[in-house]
Amino acid sequence: AAVVRYEAEDATIARGAVESNHPGFTGAGFVNYDNVTGSYVDWTVDSPRAQTVTLTLRYANGTTAERPMDVSVNGTVVSAARSFPGTGSWTNWATATLTASLGAGTNHVRATATTAGGGPNVDSLSV
Ligand code: GCU
Ligand code: CA
Repeated sequence: AAVVRYEAEDATIARGAVESNHPGFTGAGFVNYDNVTGSYVDWTVDSPRAQTVTLTLRYANGTTAERPMDVSVNGTVVSAARSFPGTGSWTNWATATLTASLGAGTNHVRATATTAGGGPNVDSLSV
């Protein structure tokens, strides 16, 4: 099926802010996670059927430290403390991919920071 991009700035955000000061994002901006454990972005993803998909998170991390996040689908962690390493600068955007199963209907894909540094800046989720 065609890949659909879901912008982070349109998702549900907990302890983060929509910003646009680092170019290269798609849509209207990106989410700057607060630099705390537990900050997250939660996307609503509708699926016409149960299926295995590739989740692609687009992000930037202008530090040299990992910004790991748990990626969950419908409350189940499918990738624990997934690595989001430095991308060289806040304007250099990279992608991280993983495989996950969606159910038929409404799904929630959430990326939650697992360390006190918070998450990277997150631009979008593509499914
Ligand atoms: C800088 C940068 C932010 C980023 C933050 C961080 O302040 O401008 O976009 O989110 O660092 O370290 O998380
Ligand atoms: Ca931040």
